[in-house]
Amino acid sequence: MKNIDQYAVFGQPIKHSKSPRIHRLFAEQTGENIEYTAREVPADTFDEAVDQFFAAGGKGLNCTVPLKELAWRRAERLTERARLSKAVNTLAQQEDGSLLGDNTDGIGLVTDLTRNHGITLTDARVLILGAGGASRGIIGPILECKPSRLLIANRTVAKAEQLTEDFADIGKISACGFDHLPGQQFDLILNATSASLSNQLPPLPERLLAENGCCYDLAYANEATAFVRWGQLQNAGHSLDGLGMLVEQAAEAFYLWRGIRPETRPVIALLNAERH
Ligand code: ATR
Repeated sequence: MKNIDQYAVFGQPIKHSKSPRIHRLFAEQTGENIEYTAREVPADTFDEAVDQFFAAGGKGLNCTVPLKELAWRRAERLTERARLSKAVNTLAQQEDGSLLGDNTDGIGLVTDLTRNHGITLTDARVLILGAGGASRGIIGPILECKPSRLLIANRTVAKAEQLTEDFADIGKISACGFDHLPGQQFDLILNATSASLSNQLPPLPERLLAENGCCYDLAYANEATAFVRWGQLQNAGHSLDGLGMLVEQAAEAFYLWRGIRPETRPVIALLNAERH
């Protein structure tokens, strides 16, 4: 009998990861015979854990916090979007045994915004809050949608300025500190800071969001995050968290591994229904 193809997510902490659930739902839906597990892997044992996993016949890995940069270093080949984002969330073993690294976070976000929520990025004024790894992972796919403006605001302005340089070949980005936000307005505001996980918000002025604009928190939680609540208070047309992005980035990884695109909407609906 043929062995079942093995996949896993590595991270720390990993206990609450929804990835095993999502990939098992995809496998059920598509009839693909795979096994997907979660493993707690600290950064200092990452390389060893990757070696063991693939030596034992593993086919593909997802890597989450704090391992995405290590996975980027580890990959022997990179997709263009992974190269630019300096982070890898998906490793796939190629036929010659080498490891391909991809970053499906940005495309997952764009798909959730445009396809699932009908939000147009083309010609939109877009603001990203935060200039860390999460922000780096989404900039390329956002620029590809040709927004009229992309501003990155960060507590440490130099980090936002660095991103404008790193992505200069793809499109124009501007950078500022939070103190430069009053008086400006955006159609889409994305929270890519890690602040909302600790229920905090960067300082945001009134009228930052255009009428009927969209707020999107890359983080997700069972309850509305601080940023999602802020969006609701601004009467946003949509105020969303990152659950849809999580499912969409998983679908891209599944496609890379199996060559089949799962239906994401029923999976998002199911996970949403289980939240409360
Ligand atoms: P991640 O991989 O989740 O992006 P990171 O690379 O550590 O994590 O980046 C965290 C981001 O959240 C940074 O932009 C950080 O701002 P600084 O670059 O100034 O550190 C931002 N951040 C974290 N806590 C914040 C807070 N309380 N207010 C505003 N920004 C915050």
